[in-house]
Formats: sequence, C-alpha cells, structure tokens
Amino acid sequence: MTTMRRRGVIENYRAYLPVTDATPVITLSEGDTPLVPAPRLGAWLGLPPGVRVLLKLEGMNPTGSFKDRGMTLAISKACEAGAKAVICASTGNTSAAAAAYAARAGLACIVLIPHGAIALGKLSQALIHGAHVLAIDGNFDEALCLVRAIADDPRRPIALVNSVNPFRLEGQKTAAFEIVDALGDAPDYHALPVGNAGNITAYWKGFVEYQAAGRASRTPRLLGFQAWGAAPLVDGAPVARPETVATAIRIGNPASWAGAIRARDASGGLIDKVADDEILAAYQALARAEGVFVEPACAAPLAGLKMLAARGYFSGAAATSATITVTMTGHGLKDPDRAIATVPGVLRQVPATREAVQAALDGMTAMATEAVS
Ligand code: F0G
Repeated sequence: MTTMRRRGVIENYRAYLPVTDATPVITLSEGDTPLVPAPRLGAWLGLPPGVRVLLKLEGMNPTGSFKDRGMTLAISKACEAGAKAVICASTGNTSAAAAAYAARAGLACIVLIPHGAIALGKLSQALIHGAHVLAIDGNFDEALCLVRAIADDPRRPIALVNSVNPFRLEGQKTAAFEIVDALGDAPDYHALPVGNAGNITAYWKGFVEYQAAGRASRTPRLLGFQAWGAAPLVDGAPVARPETVATAIRIGNPASWAGAIRARDASGGLIDKVADDEILAAYQALARAEGVFVEPACAAPLAGLKMLAARGYFSGAAATSATITVTMTGHGLKDPDRAIATVPGVLRQVPATREAVQAALDGMTAMATEAVS
C-alpha cells in the first residue's frame, strides 16, 4: 500500500479506468481518503453492539468533497479530447472541483448555480479559482437542463463535466475500490446521501467491478438517503420545488435516476428519506461524538441509519458483526453558516478580565458536569 500514497486516483487505479498513455493526468492528489471507525456515533445511532460503523471521509479530498475523484478523470479526458472550456451546473461542490481542476489544466470553466442556494465555502472556491459563475433564478434541475443544452451546441465546443459525463462516474467508483482495499473485502452495507444520483451509481459500479476482478468476495447492500423535501427516488416522481437544509442534495429530478434504482435493487438495498431536523441532529451528533465535521448532506445517511436501526433493520446483522461504511461526501467547512446556525446561543461575549472569564467558566463547569451525568 505504501506505493499508493498521494498519486491521485488515476495512477492508483489506472487498470480499472478508461485512460491510456496518451491521456494527460490532471490531478491534485485526490483520493486515498481515511476510513475511520465511529463507535460513539454507532451508539448514538442505536445500532446493535456487534455492528461496526466506519466513515469514508471524502471531505479530505483537495477541494473538500468526493467530486475530485470524478473531476480528475473528466478534466483529464477533456484535455485529451482538446477541449478549451468546461461547463457544469452545481449545488456547489461540483463547481468547486470543476473550477479547481480546470484552473490546473488551464481550461476556462463556466458554472451555473441556483441563486442563493449554495453554501458559502463552495461559492468562494468557484470564484477564487477563476470560474465564470452564473447564478440563475432557478434551481439545480433547471441549471442542469441549461448546461446540457449549451454543451450540446456543436458551434461551441464546451465539455460538460456534470455526472452525466461518464468519466465522472468512472473516477468516483474508485471510492468503492478504496473501501474494499482498506477492509480486505466489501462491507455488508454502504450508506450514502443521494442527490443527482451519480455517486450511488458509481459506487455500485465500483463494488461490482472489484468483485468481478476478484478483489472482493461480495458486494454490499447500498443504502441511499434523500431529504424529505427532495426525495424524488423515494416518492417515485420528480419534485418540482425541492427544499432541504442540505443544499448539496436539493435536487428534484436526478440525472442518474435509472442508475440509482438499479444500484438499489441489484444490491438488495434501499433508498429512503429523512427529515431536515433529523439531518441536523445527526450532523451535530457526529461533530460532537466523533470530532468529524461534515456538511449537512452527509448527515442524511446517518439519520437514515438511525431510522433503520429503530425499525430493527440491523437486528439480524448484529449476530454476524456486520460492517457499515458511510460516505461523508463533503467537509463541514463548506457550509460554516449552517454550523453556526445549528448551535445558537453558545458563543458568549465576556469582558477581558480574569473575574469575568472565571465566572463564565464556573457556569460552564456546572453545565459540563450535568452533561456527563
Ligand atoms: N453530498 C454532497 C456533499 C454533494 O455535493 C452531493 C452532490 C451529493 C452528496 C449527492 O451526490 O448527486 O451524486 O447523488 N452534489 C452535486 C453538486 C449535485 O453539484 O455539487 P449525487
């Protein structure tokens, strides 16, 4: 494994990817992200003691989300094909990754985002990397329709780098490879948030290909979770006005709809939905119990696991010491406004005197003692 450090996903998994010696490798050393045990979170989720939870921290990628895995492929292949510009629609993370990888490749980058509905950190990334950012008075689904139409126009050769670009999914499947490489086999269950549904499609592809290559003896059940107000795959119909605090997955008509259903059914898993207040409770619980700070979308699968555990879904799994891996798709610093709004009243201003600080600490010590008992 020592030879696999920090070379980026194309070099790490070249044999499994559609690249040749002629493909220029545009990389920021993405991938190779940690898979960390989360025992205290497991207890909070109400999982039976025999069930182990591990978090795949995709926020540790160079631009802070899993999108870097797909973007290294998409941008490298766009360069190979001679593209001079790329375009995408985004709820934020795709635009951050596209902007960064395009900058590294010397390509122009155009991004369409829903006005007022992307997290601050993501917007700052697209802007500082020099992307042309257009905020539309519409949602992600409308933005995706627009960029597809523009990329289809033969008079303007602009490569589309949303996950409808198959190279994106090829790159993203490497996260499944890394999980199998870390565990020595596939987990029993893999949970993740679902928005445009590219990632669940890519994970399934990765797990199936690794099993076919003899690197895993089995495939996991995939457990996908959407937010209540943006759950087209669960409700069985597109949602015209998707709403959720988890802006990354505020999507009403996923492009990889069929891929997600296939992944769900072929894996023997499920796709379900969780409420915004459950998402925010899991978001805060993870940060407090494990020291792991993620963006709200990542808490959807955690809220989902809590719901399934309460239903007894894992009661049989305890006997077999089942392993559940969960993708934490994006870093908490992507959305600092949400973190601050989630813990109101905690930040206190005190005079700069020993007495004032001591008095405040005395109050805190009392609270801490209560919290522990
Ligand atoms: N989690 C995060 C943090 C995301 O940014 C996204 C998607 C998802 C989960 C869902 O993944 O779309 O493959 O089902 N973000 C896209 C974007 C839509 O534009 O950044 P998916």
